[in-house]
Amino acid sequence: MKNFYKGKKVFITGHTGFKGAWLTRVLLNWGSQIKGYSLKPEEDSLFSKLNLQDEIEHEVGDIRDLGQLEASMSDYQPDIVFHLAAQALVRSSYDDPINTYTTNAIGSLNLLTSVNSCQSIKSLVFVTSDKCYENVEWLWGYRESDPLGGHDPYSSSKACAELIYSSFVRSFWSQRENFSATARAGNVIGGGDFSIDRIIPDCVRASENDGKVLLRSPNSTRPWQHVLEPLSGYMKLAQSLYYKEITELPSNWNFGPSINKEITTGELARLVLEILGSGEVELDPLDHPHEAGLLQLNCDKANIQLDWHPKWSGMDAIINTANWYKDVNSGKNPIEVTNNQILEYFDEQND
Ligand SMILES: NC(=O)c1ccc[n+]([C@@H]2O[C@H](COP(=O)([O-])OP(=O)(O)OC[C@H]3O[C@@H](n4cnc5c(N)ncnc54)[C@H](O)[C@@H]3O)[C@@H](O)[C@H]2O)c1
Repeated sequence: MKNFYKGKKVFITGHTGFKGAWLTRVLLNWGSQIKGYSLKPEEDSLFSKLNLQDEIEHEVGDIRDLGQLEASMSDYQPDIVFHLAAQALVRSSYDDPINTYTTNAIGSLNLLTSVNSCQSIKSLVFVTSDKCYENVEWLWGYRESDPLGGHDPYSSSKACAELIYSSFVRSFWSQRENFSATARAGNVIGGGDFSIDRIIPDCVRASENDGKVLLRSPNSTRPWQHVLEPLSGYMKLAQSLYYKEITELPSNWNFGPSINKEITTGELARLVLEILGSGEVELDPLDHPHEAGLLQLNCDKANIQLDWHPKWSGMDAIINTANWYKDVNSGKNPIEVTNNQILEYFDEQND
């Protein structure tokens, strides 16, 4: 992958977000040229900690603004597009469903429309979420062919994005060689996420203030996955699309962790606080809106056809994440800390 990405022109929407900043850092390390298109970064963001603004073409823009998005892409003439921009939080989707749907559904339609009018693009990875599946709370992993759905507005908006993609490619790209696919990954953890209402950032804030992390369901388990895992899947997928190795249309791919030792939310929070050195876990007494329970992905397709396999266990992911915050909070350079984890994750010989 390293050789493949060297010198490629990559356009990333959502580059100021958590996943987008990690992706930008990896691709810069591998010699890609990057243009990012997103809303302004949050004040305390990984994007600013990594000084990414100085190393890429950075455009502040809204994906709901078709004119600006189309012009931005067409000016740049990228080889590869990663679409990550989204209103990405379940709880915020209850507070502002209109913003969630217009960004995640209509914004994604704008993205497809912009790609359609930009002839240079040879590969498009359209990121949605594992939450696009209708969650029937069963034990088995969801397959790419399972029905879409979603209880909360965020999940439903991601299912909408998938439906829009499916209609768009069959309506407008059926006569072209396939160059696009959607990617469905689950919740990820990793250093540099400062979002509200995500467990590790909540632990980091509690530890900084010597305070408490309020947990809604401390005994629930989640398939903990480091952010580099799905990103490596997105990058492999983009490379395969570029070489026209994927012919199915529409094309959808799951990228989830391997099923390994279950770690509860309570165990995770206690371990992170222990590594960070302070803070306590407490049960959240408030009643919260519905959030889906168990959700696992079946990733046989990516394992077999892309030779993509998760590398870090849930425990590795948690420890690397907590160490990132510990190192950065103790004054180490965030770029070095992040680059060391990237070097550790990717295999010089095989990636
Ligand atoms: N983080 C996770 O655990 C997770 C899990 C599954 C799927 N995803 C998906 O991965 C993608 C990236 O997630 P993330 O965690 O980095 O999210 P994030 O909230 O950290 O970043 C979102 C990015 O989208 C941009 N954005 C939001 N609204 C926009 C708009 N209207 N116009 C332009 N840009 C806009 C933001 O500026 C930011 O750059 C999203 O599509 C998300 O739904 C994330």
